Amino acid sequence: MKKHIALVPGDGIGPDIVAEAVKVLDSVGRKFGHTFTYETFLAGGCSIDAIGKPLAEETLAGCKASDSVLLGAVGGPKWDHMASELRPEKALLGLRSGMGLFCNLRPAILYGQLSGACPLKNEIIGEGLDIMVVRELTGGIYFGERGRDKDKAYDTMSYTVSEIERIVRKGYEIAQKRNKKMTSVDKANILNSSQLWREIVERLSPEYPDVVVNHLYVDNAAMQLVRNPRQFDVIVTENMFGDILSDEASQITGSIGMLPSASLRSDNFGMYEPIHGSAPDIAGQDIANPIATILSVAMMLRYSFAMEVEAKAIEEAVSKVLDAGYRTADIFTESMKKVGTKEMGDLVAQAL
Ligand code: IPM
Ligand code: MG
Repeated sequence: MKKHIALVPGDGIGPDIVAEAVKVLDSVGRKFGHTFTYETFLAGGCSIDAIGKPLAEETLAGCKASDSVLLGAVGGPKWDHMASELRPEKALLGLRSGMGLFCNLRPAILYGQLSGACPLKNEIIGEGLDIMVVRELTGGIYFGERGRDKDKAYDTMSYTVSEIERIVRKGYEIAQKRNKKMTSVDKANILNSSQLWREIVERLSPEYPDVVVNHLYVDNAAMQLVRNPRQFDVIVTENMFGDILSDEASQITGSIGMLPSASLRSDNFGMYEPIHGSAPDIAGQDIANPIATILSVAMMLRYSFAMEVEAKAIEEAVSKVLDAGYRTADIFTESMKKVGTKEMGDLVAQAL
C-alpha cells in the first residue's frame, strides 16, 4: 500500500520523537512492502514564531489532504504569556475540530516490564492494567460559547444528541472488541448535558446487548481510578472529563512516556500523537522517550490503514526492546541499559 502521512512535529521534544517514529514506519514499509511518504507542517509555538499564528490554513489543508496525521507535541513556556486565541494549544483544537476528529482513544496500559514505575500498591494493581479511555474531542466546554465581561467570565458545556450518540456508539463498539464492559462517566447529578448523555447511553444499550454498561459520576470515577482501577475496561466520557481522567489513568500506569493516542473521524481517518507534552526542558538533547510516538504509529496502522499485522509487529518490537533491558531516562531503573532517543528508535526499528 502507498500512504501519504502529514507530519506535525510541533514544539519541544516533538521533532525528536517524530523522527524516531518515522524511522520505525520506514522499517515497517521495508519489511511489509508499503510505501510511506511524508510532508511536514508547522503547528503550535513554532508556527507562531514563523507566521504569527498557531495554525496556518496550509497546515490544516495539508493534514486534511493526507491519509493520516502524526503529531509530536505543541506548546512551551515561551508562548505561555500569549492571549488564549494565539496560544500553541489552539493549534491542537483547530486540528481536532477542523478535521472532525470527535473520537479520542487513550489507552492506559501498565507494561509488565515497567510495573515498578506504577505508583499504586501491588495488591491494587494485581495482574496489571489495561484501560481504554474514549474521550469526546470536538464538543463540550472546549468548544462551547465563552466570554469575558469585566468581572465575569464563562464557558459553556453543551452537547447535541448526535454528538453524544456517535461517541457513545464508538465506546460500545470498542467495548465489544475488548472485555464487553463500559463505564460511562458524567455529572448527571448536576449537569443537563450529562443527563442527556446518560439518557443516550441507556437508550443505545439494547443495541449492544453483549456490553455491560454502568454509570459513574466523574468525581467518583476519579477516586475509583486510584482505589480500584481494575474495575475499568472502557471508559466513555465527554471532552473535559476525558481530558482529566485520561491524565490520571496514564499516571497510574507510571509510563506516561509510553502511551499513544488516536483521534478519529467516523471514516477512520485520524491524527495520532503521544499523550505526553512537549517537555521543552529536554528538547533536542536526545533524551526523550520516543516509544509513545512509535506506539501512536502502531495505532495509525491499526485504525486508519487496517494494517493489524504491521501494528502488532511494532508493539512486539517495542516489547522486545524493553525485555532486552533498554530504557530511556524517564523509565530507567538500576541495572537497565540507558539509551537516548535515537538509539531507542534504532533498536525498535532493528527489532522489527
Ligand atoms: C490533551 C491536552 C490538550 C487538551 C490541551 C493541550 C489543549 O491536555 O490533549 O489532553 O486539553 O485537550
Ligand atoms: Mg490533557
